[in-house]
Amino acid sequence: MTSLRWPMLALLAWGACWGAFAALRAQDTPAAVAVALATLLGAAIAFSASTPWRRLFIASGFPLSLALSGAASGLPGWAWLAPLAALAILYPVGAWRDAPLFPTPKGALRGLAAQLSLPADGRFLDAGCGLGDALIELRREFPRAALSGIEWSGLLRLLCSLRCRFASVRRADMWSADWSGFDLVYVFQRPESMERVIAKASGELRPGAWLASLEFEVGSRRPTWVFVCADGRPLWLYRMTAGR
Ligand SMILES: C[S@@+](CC[C@H](N)C(=O)[O-])C[C@H]1O[C@@H](n2cnc3c(N)ncnc32)[C@H](O)[C@@H]1O
Repeated sequence: MTSLRWPMLALLAWGACWGAFAALRAQDTPAAVAVALATLLGAAIAFSASTPWRRLFIASGFPLSLALSGAASGLPGWAWLAPLAALAILYPVGAWRDAPLFPTPKGALRGLAAQLSLPADGRFLDAGCGLGDALIELRREFPRAALSGIEWSGLLRLLCSLRCRFASVRRADMWSADWSGFDLVYVFQRPESMERVIAKASGELRPGAWLASLEFEVGSRRPTWVFVCADGRPLWLYRMTAGR
């Protein structure tokens, strides 16, 4: 879908939302439920857009156009909470605190396996795996590795496991999940989370295992190595040592 010329994807998404809304109302579905489901559909389609702004544009199009159209004038005031409820299902508040959904760009990790000496059949975890874009990158680089993903949003976890059937994906909080036993933990989170990430990795990963962070560096620790991704972003790599 990302190959559709912009704004074709947005127009199709809004059309689909309005179509779903009209079809649900024709079946006598309560208005608030129809609004929530149509908004959820728009938000799900929005994930296939290529930039965060386009995702926001697509996801907000249906509820905004509904408000402006007056088609919702009969809705009770509380019905406007429906899009928010839909968003909360898709993206629970716990996940906002750490990092929103910005996927690892396609091709970003190309060449990593040739440069990083890791057991080919090792165990790798993407902590906060979103829709699985990083898992797909890791799969291409390390086809024999056992890949796992942890994701807080139930819907993203479901979509990720459908997309990444080669990986074991579960819904969990990456902070309370056990990272020991992995040869590499990959994160693409937020600058503010990095001290917590390195503390967890240092406490749980065995010496010799790796923490890989796309884009965001751990301020307090020198990286063992920096891989420059295809698009120029850094992948900061920290090798665990005994006693840290
Ligand atoms: C920037 S995205 C990265 C997605 C994926 N790792 C990638 O690189 O394509 C961050 C993801 O972390 C998830 N997340 C944030 N906090 C989390 C938590 N505490 N536990 C599990 N997942 C979390 C978000 O829902 C989001 O999908």
